[in-house]
Amino acid sequence: MGPRHRGDDVKSVGRAMANNNDLAVLEGALLAEIGGAGDLRALEDVRIAALGKKGRVSELMAKLGSLPADQRKAFGQSVNGLKQRVSDALESRKAELERQALSSRLATERADVTLPVRLGPLQDGRVHPVSQVWDEVAEIFGDMGFAVAEGPDIETDDLNFTKLNIPPEHPARQDHDTFYFHPKADGTRMLLRTHTSPVQIRTMMSQKPPIRIIAPGRVYRLDSDATHTPMFHQIEALVIDEETHLGHLKWCIEEFCKAFFEVDEVRMRFRASHFPFTEPSMEVDIDAAAIGKPGQWLEILGSGMVHPNVIRNCGLDPDKYQGFAFGMGLDRITMLKYGIPDLRDMFAADLRWLKHFGFLPLDVPTLAGGLSP
Ligand code: PHE
Repeated sequence: MGPRHRGDDVKSVGRAMANNNDLAVLEGALLAEIGGAGDLRALEDVRIAALGKKGRVSELMAKLGSLPADQRKAFGQSVNGLKQRVSDALESRKAELERQALSSRLATERADVTLPVRLGPLQDGRVHPVSQVWDEVAEIFGDMGFAVAEGPDIETDDLNFTKLNIPPEHPARQDHDTFYFHPKADGTRMLLRTHTSPVQIRTMMSQKPPIRIIAPGRVYRLDSDATHTPMFHQIEALVIDEETHLGHLKWCIEEFCKAFFEVDEVRMRFRASHFPFTEPSMEVDIDAAAIGKPGQWLEILGSGMVHPNVIRNCGLDPDKYQGFAFGMGLDRITMLKYGIPDLRDMFAADLRWLKHFGFLPLDVPTLAGGLSP
């Protein structure tokens, strides 16, 4: 309030001496302001403007001394009465606003004790469908007597290609859209493995037959669209001994498919194909009836009898040893089994997606307990 207005008040004080109506008007105005204060802060501003040192009520009191003696008592009593009622109104409005603030806070910070108990991170976490399928496949082949082998993601050109009977300049190299590292001083180049087949080589070079391994892992190809991602997963299988033949390969794949898709029968089609590291080579399709969509063939893997050159390249005698190998796309069979439409979603790290498609960490797949929950 400016000095000019304060001067006006002084004049009105004079009138108040004669007319208690002015006090009643001021009281009405103050009580209205108090009632209209929307929160504790606004109410405090009203209090200061009324009862503060320079507030409108305090200034009335200050004028008391300048009144004729016979009027002081009555005026003082009136102002005191006003002051008391304003204070009371402030008090009760304050209590009311505090009650409101508390109940709105209680409403927003409400805990619903009827909600189920949250068991913490273990309950919240989900296993990615590819990890789930990785475990399911390992469980199935483990039951058939396969061990799990591993190799590095960063491979030599020799193990990824050359020893697999894909010499330099072989056209098959172009098919793989390889990520290469810069050449080393000796001219050799490291690369991101384009398939899990180099684990066949590593295993044959380090173990004596009989060999029976699977090798799940990440593989990389320079390719990206709705059905290809630059990184994806394969699972390799390799059996080497003195008598394993094509019949074993077919049986093994068929048993795997029945166990994996959790059905009694799977119709399969073995199509002649070509891989430099197998002879003969076959691609395997399954009848999509296995996933409830009859009438369609779905390719799930490449396979064949290990090429004698590959066996020789690993220091084994191809006249003594033989066997089969296959490589299967893990992401692909995951999508088929669990009805996941877009490959790219698998790598989007979207927690809502994971909550929907993911698996509880304690639902470990076992053949006895059931592969999928
Ligand atoms: N490595 C082949 C691929 O990535 C798959 C395969 C593995 C084929 C083993 C035959 C034998 O396409």
